[in-house]
Amino acid sequence: MYNSKITGLGYYVPDNIVTNDDLSKIMDTNDEWIQERTGIKERRWIKEGSDDTSAVMGAKASRIAIERAGLTAEDIDFIVFATLSPDYYFPGCGVQIQDMLGLRTVGAVDIRNQCSGFVYAMSVADQFIKTGMYKNILVIGSEYHSGGLDKTTRGRSVSVIFGDGAGAAVLSRTEDNSKGILSSHLHSEGKHAEELTVIAPSIRHWVPEILKENDENDESYFPYMNGTFVFKHAVVRFSQAINEGLQANNLKVSDIDMLIPHQANLRIAQFIQKKFNLSDDQLFNNIQKYGNTTAASVIIALTEAWEKGKIKENDLVVLAAFGSGFTWGSVIMRW
Ligand code: ACO
Repeated sequence: MYNSKITGLGYYVPDNIVTNDDLSKIMDTNDEWIQERTGIKERRWIKEGSDDTSAVMGAKASRIAIERAGLTAEDIDFIVFATLSPDYYFPGCGVQIQDMLGLRTVGAVDIRNQCSGFVYAMSVADQFIKTGMYKNILVIGSEYHSGGLDKTTRGRSVSVIFGDGAGAAVLSRTEDNSKGILSSHLHSEGKHAEELTVIAPSIRHWVPEILKENDENDESYFPYMNGTFVFKHAVVRFSQAINEGLQANNLKVSDIDMLIPHQANLRIAQFIQKKFNLSDDQLFNNIQKYGNTTAASVIIALTEAWEKGKIKENDLVVLAAFGSGFTWGSVIMRW
């Protein structure tokens, strides 16, 4: 059995910064409400006319990750792409990455697990490496949220939270079993699917219906989130996912060198920090700058933390996420 280890990291966010004050010009909201409830100061939204999409941003982040891994396109054996905002209804973004990066005709799979998407994607890639099937896998999380948000007062409780961006990791085979991904833990509870969802378009609410109704009051095309309900579940599931990972490896909370929580809400991360008694050096947040970038949030945060020198050789790094589905999970790594 092999282990898989991150050998390259990269992220890309669009240039266009949208502050809370910018949002207050287009909907009834304000900087104080947004910062107090979520910690967010600004986010990146793709500017109209830009060529960026989820796949394009994923490709930009991937080029950086592949170069930092000291590899070339030729070395990549498989693609795992996590997003809730794909360029097409189908096919998934993974196949676009194969083309955009000029990879061999390697396999590509898309992961549909929203905020837990990157944690799921890492776990999937890890299994392919552990079994010896592949050597180097490109794992991507990318979201183009701003194209699909309700940017009016009606949608304010959701639209102020989400941002655009992408991150990528190259996961490579290592024969040193003390390094890399030690374990991953995945969960779902589908009875809460409609607490955080985009209903349409889907097979149940398909295009003829859109054309026939063309009803601008129909909210089913925009993300819906029962925020308080989701918050309550998030704090419980985050804690469970972290504990499960630690217990599986006979580790204690004090062994954590860096926790990268999914960036859903600074208040959730602060709750976890307090509950686990973690110092400011033991966890990393960047929701203040980017908002919630869903499948991209964990990998953008991991990359930034690493770039800032906050992750060192042999560190115990924990990734944890919770989101729509509900789905949640964790990945425990020895750097
Ligand atoms: N600006 C100003 N006021 C607002 C805004 C806004 N942008 N949005 C809502 N309000 C108002 C509401 O209308 C409400 O007013 P009322 O009391 O007069 O009815 C009031 O503010 C309070 O609204 P709540 O929704 O109760 O606010 P809450 O404190 O719960 O914060 C939030 C909302 C930030 C969404 C929070 O519930 C949250 O973060 N939930 C969890 C998010 C999460 O973890 N998501 C999972 C990942 S996302 C994924 O998987 C895609």
